[in-house]
Amino acid sequence: MDAYECLLTRRSIRSFTDKKVSDDLVQKILTAGMYAPSARNERPWHFIVIRDRNTFEKIMSYHPYAQMLKSADVLIAVVAEPPGEENKGYCVVDCSAATENILLAAHALGLGSVWLGVYPREERMAKLSEILNLPENIIPISLVAIGYKAIQPTQPERFDLSKIHYEKW
Ligand SMILES: Cc1cc2nc3c(=O)[nH]c(=O)nc-3n(C[C@H](O)[C@H](O)[C@H](O)COP(=O)(O)O)c2cc1C
Repeated sequence: MDAYECLLTRRSIRSFTDKKVSDDLVQKILTAGMYAPSARNERPWHFIVIRDRNTFEKIMSYHPYAQMLKSADVLIAVVAEPPGEENKGYCVVDCSAATENILLAAHALGLGSVWLGVYPREERMAKLSEILNLPENIIPISLVAIGYKAIQPTQPERFDLSKIHYEKW
């Protein structure tokens, strides 16, 4: 699949088979995360690879939209280490770019994935910080559940001319 096809055919996958995702594939996915653009090339992200099903259970107990973890094989938490007050706001944007790279890499490698929202929901951020033992200065941004697809998603038409503006709004 070429890059453009990858962009257009990636869909959120919430149902996975029992097949395990190898550590090699996880490393490739994380490498893609690390190649995301970031403000001033600060690369404020850290990635926590989670395979412990007890942790999945803890997350499912408080996160309202995380039930796909029942079948997911691996979960990646994308967290930010702000480089300093001046650039703090950008670290959320940077980690979001890394999260998208992770979703696209998973798709390119034949896997399914879905982004679980964490930032800016304060309760979800606090719970995740506690579960993952995050230091005070580390901001949880997103979770990505990954596994082999148990379903083949349909491809909706999303091109929308009304979203495009030229020169001014
Ligand atoms: C910031 C953000 C938070 C999201 N949170 C969740 C979530 O908590 N649970 C979930 O199942 N999907 C979540 N999604 C996935 C969206 O529901 C999904 O991207 C959207 O419905 C479009 O579908 P697609 O990804 O198949 O294109 C999230 C996506 C984003 C970008």
